[in-house]
Amino acid sequence: MAEAKPTILVTGGAGYIGSHAVLALQQAGYEVVVLDNLVYGHRDLVEQVLKVELVVGDTSDRVLLDQVFATHNIAAVMHFAAYAYVGESVTDPAKYYQNNVMGTLTLLEAMLAASIKQFVFSSTCATYGVPTTVPIPEDHPQQPINPYGASKLMVERILADFDVAYGLKSVCFRYFNAAGADPGGLLGEDHNPETHLLPLVLMTALGQRESVSIFGTDYPTPDGTCIRDYIHVADLATAHLLGLEYLLQGGNSEVFNLGNGNGFSVRQVIEVAQQVTGKSIAAVEHDRRPGDPPSLIGSGDKARSLLNWQPQYSSLHDILSHAWQWHQKRHRTCH
Ligand SMILES: NC(=O)c1ccc[n+]([C@@H]2O[C@H](COP(=O)([O-])OP(=O)(O)OC[C@H]3O[C@@H](n4cnc5c(N)ncnc54)[C@H](O)[C@@H]3O)[C@@H](O)[C@H]2O)c1
Repeated sequence: MAEAKPTILVTGGAGYIGSHAVLALQQAGYEVVVLDNLVYGHRDLVEQVLKVELVVGDTSDRVLLDQVFATHNIAAVMHFAAYAYVGESVTDPAKYYQNNVMGTLTLLEAMLAASIKQFVFSSTCATYGVPTTVPIPEDHPQQPINPYGASKLMVERILADFDVAYGLKSVCFRYFNAAGADPGGLLGEDHNPETHLLPLVLMTALGQRESVSIFGTDYPTPDGTCIRDYIHVADLATAHLLGLEYLLQGGNSEVFNLGNGNGFSVRQVIEVAQQVTGKSIAAVEHDRRPGDPPSLIGSGDKARSLLNWQPQYSSLHDILSHAWQWHQKRHRTCH
């Protein structure tokens, strides 16, 4: 009989990327416990769709964490729980440092007290700031230009120090723009408020919004609009599984970009979304937003070579088709 796989704690598992990681873990045979405060997460996705144990609580609640670690045989933690609204982080940085840094520190201390020493962390390309080289490699200087990116960089630093001092091994994944939905149609993106381009475009196609905004049409890009690297959420989930298994097999701490190595402009996204949905999508042009780099593209070469990560859905058409399937279903059942 095959050996039972260990139990993994997934913080933020009721959120967008975390829920897809839970699905990937389940499909690979792992036991999963989700910890989520449900500030942005969805109870129904964890309890009714994924059908895994949900502990409703906060990463800054040390008593609760001690209890979770004492009552479950957790081998490793995947940590998605964070606040991730860049604009809000500028106007309310305390909220971001409190949750993303202090909450993570409390979690790490509770893990060490329970002798759990393997950690997979959701970092971000926002730690790079404005890139000087594109595609961005992992050793590119990290100079975040907003408190959100700074909060994630602080955790990266904490993890490096905790490895040296306490032997805590981590894999940090710096994602580019997470997009798409479970190809099987079970899960998808449901942020409120929504700030990401692809769901906004699809919500416009569904008639939930009148138009989609294009911020800046005079960038030094082929069509003048910003270019971003959209990485399918199912490919992110697979990378997390590979990162976890790398750590469970005794791997050393590592940092990886998760990007496709190519990018699409805002106008390209709208154009392909019109093809996928068969709807006309109204766009309104605005001035540039401060702090938006023209092009953000991440080299995923290191994850491909070291983790043998092979993204399956790098075409924008696939990403949008899966997201469209989800948005239509969620719209019918929830809105
Ligand atoms: N979406 C992206 O494109 C993107 C890009 C780079 C990095 N990230 C990072 O990936 C992670 C997941 O992002 P997402 O888009 O799935 O966000 P999300 O908001 O959908 O998921 C985060 C989840 O964490 C929960 N949460 C927040 N703080 C918590 C706390 N202190 N204790 C317990 N639960 C808490 C929320 O309720 C939510 O369910 C975040 O850490 C984010 O910073 C996301």
